[in-house]
Amino acid sequence: MSQHDRVAFLDGVRTPFGRAGEKGMYANTRSDDLAVKAMIGMLERNPQLPGERVDDVAIAATTQQGDQGLTLGRTSAILAGLPLSVPGYAIDRMCAGAMTAVTTVSGAVSMGMYDFAIAGGVEHMGRHPMGFDADPNPRFVAEKLVEADALNMGATAERLHDRFPHLTKQRADAYAMASQLKVEQAYQDGNIQQDLIPVAIKSGAGWGLATEDEGRRPETNLEGLAGLKTPFRPHGRVTAGNSSPLTDGAAVSLIGSESAARAIGIKPKMHLVSFAFAGVAPEVMGIGPIPSTEKALAKAGLSISDIGLFELNEAFAVQVLSLLDHFGIADDDARVNPYGGAIALGHPLAASGVRLMIQLARQFEQRPDVRYGLTAMCVGLGQGGSVIWENPHFDGKRK
Ligand SMILES: CC(C)(COP(=O)(O)OP(=O)(O)OC[C@H]1O[C@@H](n2cnc3c(N)ncnc32)[C@H](O)[C@@H]1OP(=O)(O)O)[C@@H](O)C(=O)NCCC(=O)NCCS
Repeated sequence: MSQHDRVAFLDGVRTPFGRAGEKGMYANTRSDDLAVKAMIGMLERNPQLPGERVDDVAIAATTQQGDQGLTLGRTSAILAGLPLSVPGYAIDRMCAGAMTAVTTVSGAVSMGMYDFAIAGGVEHMGRHPMGFDADPNPRFVAEKLVEADALNMGATAERLHDRFPHLTKQRADAYAMASQLKVEQAYQDGNIQQDLIPVAIKSGAGWGLATEDEGRRPETNLEGLAGLKTPFRPHGRVTAGNSSPLTDGAAVSLIGSESAARAIGIKPKMHLVSFAFAGVAPEVMGIGPIPSTEKALAKAGLSISDIGLFELNEAFAVQVLSLLDHFGIADDDARVNPYGGAIALGHPLAASGVRLMIQLARQFEQRPDVRYGLTAMCVGLGQGGSVIWENPHFDGKRK
């Protein structure tokens, strides 16, 4: 990588996301096979890239055991048919696993150590329920380092409603409905499908093919949302309708130096400008992307008004609203999640960071008037992650 070279997001694909659980389309599919399938799909889409040029493979998962164990980056690289000379490793930052895979390999590209790397994540929440078999140190609670329910993500979202009473359930529901409708529109416009790698699936009815995200609820309306149970607290505000559903899926990206990519005929889809992670109190983990975004903006020398497109992970509607509110952005601002988000598509924890990037890259292509975009997400145990990207299609004329 030369001195003036840039780190680029060269491509990204994902499996269709499935509803977690016995009735979900991936109930009989191994988790690592989802990552492998996505990786094969991406390599097939980029035949110019010789496998042996991949310097590393970083694949994230939150629960690293069973079919998500054994150093996923290495196992999935072998299973995807990459040469045995290509190394790989596993990575974990819970929901920001894939985002951290991308930023970690980007650092190596930036130092000139890697020309190309594959970075992504997978989570089969049906096979690996959140927190399953975890053994948190008793000191956390005994020494009051965190509240006992800080690992219950829904409870942390309820606390955000407590902390910001003006972020009402009605606003969360309206935001959630809009997400469902935007995803439906994005499907109708063909904006989602082109980055999905179909996956063969087996059910009682025999073999089939997963080609679309399974959890979508385009029929969602405000009356239906208003009547849903609040599973995390009696008379609470967080429901199945304004939360991301439990989901199975994988997403992978190809990260590389701009000059190495151009030399083999691959054009950057996004340039990495800056990134940051930040910690907050675990009890209100949903506000994590606020300080991480502030840090990433400061590192880039940009302000929030420079960001023309936002891809925010919708772990919970209230958590996205807290970020928008902080930065003075309207709940229905057209720059935010134009194709909808995780409330409708699902949030397979360690895969979602790259899903955000895939959508931002697609939007950059359609929006030469936008120069900068942000991908950001909250993380369990109180963190946020933000990556700022520059649009290589920017035509110098801002609308
Ligand atoms: C909220 C949660 C507990 C709900 O789980 P669930 O009860 O299995 O969810 P379901 O999909 O069965 O939905 C529950 C009910 O709401 C209904 N529902 C869900 N979304 C709806 C919508 N948009 N409109 C109308 N009804 C809806 C379902 O039809 C179902 O109704 P039923 O009980 O009559 O069958 C679960 O999705 C969850 O834990 N989400 C958060 C995941 C998380 O923490 N991720 C990490 C973030 S950091």
